[in-house]
Amino acid sequence: MLILGIETSCDETGTAVYDSQLGLLAHAVYTQTEIHQQYGGVVPELASRDHVRKIIPLIKNVLSQTNFSLKDLNGIAYTIGPGLVGALLVGACVGRSLSYALTIPAVGVHHMEGHLFAAMLEKNPPEFPFIALLVSGGHTQLVRVTSFGNYELLGESIDDAVGEAFDKTAKLLGLNYPGGAELAALAEHGNPKRFLFPRPMLDRPGLDFSFSGLKTCAVNTFKKNNNDAETRADIARAFQDAIVETLVTKCKRALHATGLKRLVVAGGVGANNALRSALRDMLSENVFFPRQEFCTDNGAMIAYVGCQYLLAGKSSDLAIKVFSRGNL
Ligand code: KG4
Ligand code: ZN
Repeated sequence: MLILGIETSCDETGTAVYDSQLGLLAHAVYTQTEIHQQYGGVVPELASRDHVRKIIPLIKNVLSQTNFSLKDLNGIAYTIGPGLVGALLVGACVGRSLSYALTIPAVGVHHMEGHLFAAMLEKNPPEFPFIALLVSGGHTQLVRVTSFGNYELLGESIDDAVGEAFDKTAKLLGLNYPGGAELAALAEHGNPKRFLFPRPMLDRPGLDFSFSGLKTCAVNTFKKNNNDAETRADIARAFQDAIVETLVTKCKRALHATGLKRLVVAGGVGANNALRSALRDMLSENVFFPRQEFCTDNGAMIAYVGCQYLLAGKSSDLAIKVFSRGNL
C-alpha cells in the first residue's frame, strides 16, 4: 500500500511517500523558521500562507524521488491536529481533495501519534509494549503503548512543555527562535559546576513534570550575573542538565512502575544529544530514537501512522476537519 503523508500543523511543511512493503521511499521538509524568527515565535497567518505556497511543490518533490506518480497512490494521510488551525487546514484540504480526485481513501492523523511512531521508520524498530517519552514544543508526556491505538497516559507536564521551556530560556539567552537546538549547542561550552538548577518534582512520587520553575530559575540567575558569553553558556548548561536528569529519572520510574523494559523517545526535544546519550547510558539497546530529523515535525511519521490505519480499513469521511488542541 503506497501512501502520501502530509504534515502542516505548525511551521514545517512535510511530505513523504511510504510503502507498507518497501518502507519509506522519500520525504521532504521545508522549515519556515526564517519567516518567523524576526517575530520570536510562529505567526499563524504567515505559517498558513507559506504552507499554501510549499505544499504542492513538496508533494511533487517526494513523488519525483520515487518511481511512482500520483496515480499509483493507494491512500493519503494528513495531520488533523493538534496544531494551528489555518496551517492544518492547508494540509487537510490538499489531502482530502487529492483523495477525492484520485478516488482513494484518506485519513486524518493525530500529530502526537505521528511522533509516537517515528522510531518505527528506523532499521531497528521497537516491539510492543513500550513506554514512550513524548517531548515536543507543546507536549511532555509519558505514555504506555501496548499496541497500535492502545495508549495510556502515565504522566505529563502540569505547566510548560519541555520544548517550550527550552524555547523560552533560549530567548532569554538571546538565541533565535526556536531555540532548543541552539541552546543545546551553547550548553556544550558551559561549565556544569557553576550553577545548579533544581530537578523539578523529583522529590515527589508520580510521573508528572513541571518546567515553569526551571525557566524562572534561569531568569533569576541571568539577572543576578554578568550577562557575558560565558555566563550564558553556563546557564544553558545548568538548564539542560536539570531537564535531562529530570526526564531520565521519570523514564526510569515509568519503566519500573510498569515493569516494561523498552523506552521510545519522540518529538523535537528527542533530538537533544545530551538527552539521547544519558538515556543510552541508562538503557543501552532498550532505548529507541527516531533519527534526529524525524524527531522534529515531518511527513514521514504521518505517512507511517496513516498507512497503519488504512491497512486496518480505517479512513476519514469527506468532511475537512481539524482541531487545535487535544491529547492522544
Ligand atoms: O516536535 P516538534 O518539532 O514540534 C512540536 O510538535 O512541537 O518540537 C519542537 C520543539 C521546539 O521547542 C524545539 O526548540 C525543540 O523541539 N528542539 C530541541 C532540539 N531540537 C528541537 N530541544 C532541545 N534540543 C534540541 N536539539
Ligand atoms: Zn511535532
